[in-house]
Amino acid sequence: MYIPFVTFKPMEKELDTELRAAFERVYGNSWYIEGKEDEAFENAFAEYCNTKYCIGCGNGLDALMLALKALEVEAGDEVIVPSNTYIASALAITYVGAKPVFVEPDIRTYNIDSNKIEAAITSRTKVIMPVHLYGQPCNMKPIMEIAKMYNLYILEDCAQAHGATFHGQVVGSFGDAAGFSFYPGKNLGALGDAGATVTNSKKLADKIRALGNYGSDYKYHHIYRGNNSRLDELQAAFLAVKLPHLDHMNEERRKIAKRYMDEIINPKFVLPYVLDGTNPVWHIFAIRCKNRDKLVEYLKTAGIGTNMHYPIPMHLQGAYKDLHVQQGALPIAEEISATELSLPLYYGMTDEEISYVVDKLNSF
Ligand SMILES: Cc1ncc(COP(=O)(O)O)c(C=O)c1O
Repeated sequence: MYIPFVTFKPMEKELDTELRAAFERVYGNSWYIEGKEDEAFENAFAEYCNTKYCIGCGNGLDALMLALKALEVEAGDEVIVPSNTYIASALAITYVGAKPVFVEPDIRTYNIDSNKIEAAITSRTKVIMPVHLYGQPCNMKPIMEIAKMYNLYILEDCAQAHGATFHGQVVGSFGDAAGFSFYPGKNLGALGDAGATVTNSKKLADKIRALGNYGSDYKYHHIYRGNNSRLDELQAAFLAVKLPHLDHMNEERRKIAKRYMDEIINPKFVLPYVLDGTNPVWHIFAIRCKNRDKLVEYLKTAGIGTNMHYPIPMHLQGAYKDLHVQQGALPIAEEISATELSLPLYYGMTDEEISYVVDKLNSF
């Protein structure tokens, strides 16, 4: 049996007619950037996230970066970010000239440890960026309290958590703004790169939109030195097809995750921990194993694809050498990087495929 880490085939089959119709409609309209498809998707996604505004852009990195720019985060400022996220979270911070301050995650949830945030706050801290990693919501209650106490902004990184909830509230609706990625492999994925920022602030929304459109609030009037990062009509139309299916596709991911949680009983693995009151969307099903490399080889031989999120922590990446954070300084992030393995989990995974993965893992 061959089981890839991820495949889009079942989803594509289910939505084939609708996706092709969306393409035909946009092509027929001969209008490709900033049009009614964009507006329709933005309105629908804002509603889904229970926020007033959604501003589409080119990708998830830009969604975060434009939000930080709009919040006037700049050189000299610090942004608190977990030490174990995808590098895009930190890149958004360094692109605006600010410094990422890495805070270790809780080893159980892999999300930023709210008990460690206060110690990282300085007079330069401007923003806390919780990342709902693997589709598991962060512990937002204490994070919101700390932000309020120290008068800090919250920018949620929701790239992996479309539709996940914390005590019934959907992620993306907690902070001053939130960035989403619609990279094809995300729970809500485009057929190419795309992203969006959501917010309840009209002032922020207007500024983010202008910043992503060459800093222009009105054609050929440039009030900011902006970027070019807009959601195009084709991707917006594809996303609008997929959004109404997001909840049932997330529900299916939950069923697969439940089977893994119930049936993987090999004590060599640490299974995910679900924080009370959260309803994750299982973008990634992450286990930990001391013999990770051996396990990868074993599963590969059995025809099972896996992935690692992420094998090198950000502070040990060449890109962040100048931060001078040495090996050993962030032991929890390093431990996760050394032991984490992501199992296949995708919409349309069959019962037989799940059983096969479970059996192979239990006999490792
Ligand atoms: C946690 C996190 N933040 C940000 C991003 C950036 O999104 P994009 O790839 O759309 O730029 C990603 C994408 O992989 C991500 O996983």
